[in-house]
Amino acid sequence: MLDNQLKKAINEQINKEFYSSYLYLAMAAHFDAKALPGFAHWMKVQAAEEWGHGMKFYHYLTEVGAEVELAAIACPPLKFGSPKEIFEQVYEHEQSVTASINAIYDLAKKVNDPKTELMLHWFINEQVEEEKNDRDILDQLEMSGGTTFGLMFLDHNVLGKRKED
Ligand code: FEO
Repeated sequence: MLDNQLKKAINEQINKEFYSSYLYLAMAAHFDAKALPGFAHWMKVQAAEEWGHGMKFYHYLTEVGAEVELAAIACPPLKFGSPKEIFEQVYEHEQSVTASINAIYDLAKKVNDPKTELMLHWFINEQVEEEKNDRDILDQLEMSGGTTFGLMFLDHNVLGKRKED
């Protein structure tokens, strides 16, 4: 059994994770169009991870016998700024995802649902890792001084080398 408010919040979170996937895929397409294949690769790996997060929530709902209710996924932006502006956007987006997961956690505590609290521990840790990754890339972009050489170095030797989880 799952509390109705929690079921609704988790279904909304599935949508947010799938939107994150779509947003990062849109960013990947932008980087592909700008001849930055390493940045595009990083975004494609992230898009796949986000899809996986949505599916983790999906499987949780099915495990506890609650209905999965899929909703339309919003359209991501078509235009993006500089790589630094994009990663600022990613960091801000991830902070909003963290807030959303924390709110579900608070709700699980409020309705006294320890199984959902436990399930959310994985996501809370994941958000710490994701926010750190974004901050690291922002720092590296800062260190590159916005030079073409710095950007190409990050593209080929850092973001392009990201492994799939
Ligand atoms: Fe699904 Fe980027 O957190």
